[in-house]
Amino acid sequence: MKFVVTGGSGFIGSYIVKHLLSNDHQVTVVDNFCRGRLENLAGFEEKIDFQKLDILDYDALKEIISDSDGIFHQAALTSVPESFIQKEKYHSVNVVGTENIFKLARDFGIKVVYASSSSVYGNTTSIPIKEDFKKNPINPYGITKLDDEKLAEKYYNLGVSIIGLRYFNVYGIGQTNDYAGVITKFYDYIQADKPPIIFDDGSQIRDFVSVEDVAKVNLLSMQSNADFAFLNIGTGITTSVKELAYLMIKLSGKSLEPIFDKLPQGDVKESQADVTLAKKLIGWTYEISLENGLKNFFF
Ligand SMILES: NC(=O)c1ccc[n+]([C@@H]2O[C@H](COP(=O)([O-])OP(=O)(O)OC[C@H]3O[C@@H](n4cnc5c(N)ncnc54)[C@H](O)[C@@H]3O)[C@@H](O)[C@H]2O)c1
Repeated sequence: MKFVVTGGSGFIGSYIVKHLLSNDHQVTVVDNFCRGRLENLAGFEEKIDFQKLDILDYDALKEIISDSDGIFHQAALTSVPESFIQKEKYHSVNVVGTENIFKLARDFGIKVVYASSSSVYGNTTSIPIKEDFKKNPINPYGITKLDDEKLAEKYYNLGVSIIGLRYFNVYGIGQTNDYAGVITKFYDYIQADKPPIIFDDGSQIRDFVSVEDVAKVNLLSMQSNADFAFLNIGTGITTSVKELAYLMIKLSGKSLEPIFDKLPQGDVKESQADVTLAKKLIGWTYEISLENGLKNFFF
């Protein structure tokens, strides 16, 4: 089939593209390359139709989407600290851009699988987090993702099939350093023989999921009969940031001691997915444990 992947040269999008190609699908990447990198798709360039464009460019998008069989929408601005400073820009790309995708999907009768985020929940009163927990994002980035979910519901009611995947902490090779998650940051410190910097006391809990597992759940969602859902995408297993630092130091074989710094604004305390619904609705569960994922990717 012919799929469009927005944000396809970014971290997660590039793994989705490679997974689609390895399953014999045709892929058009839509990306303005503000954060994406061609290196993320090295070796696959010949097989991909690249369209360098902004998702805010509705007319250009229309032409590309008109002859596709489905859209994997990953393009977004993703930095929590930056979202406090550039609220309007975040709203424009993440919300107006996403509505462009939903509108075109409606016009051409195409299914959308798109990247939501665990940030829609904010700080919850208990974990693991179920999909129907209260949504209370604590940063402007999370607010844009919640606005997208409201739009998804609106467009579903207008006849569009939409699956929103609420990714928890996705890790792997290819994250843009300035905007990278904690695993890439720790890895960069460790590689440079520097101690990883832990925010606060490191007791924050996260649910880390491999980007390869995330690529698979995207295609499964597209192929499933489900036509409207928001699904938690994590492992259901928790790791504290401090445990992560010590695990990565151990795997590196180096002798380093983490150092501690103050917590940035907008960081949630505890994040753990209840992954029952993804299993029930589309038959997906993670396959790669954190330790194996870290070994495969980094050590
Ligand atoms: N990485 C995570 O742990 C995580 C967690 C939850 C949700 N998400 C979501 O997953 C998606 C992918 O995130 P990622 O980590 O791969 O980020 P990323 O920054 O690596 O990828 C985003 C891509 O979108 C492109 N892009 C940004 N603005 C654009 C625009 N206006 N027009 C066209 N392209 C544009 C960028 O160039 C980049 O290639 C995002 O929607 C993000 O919010 C990621």
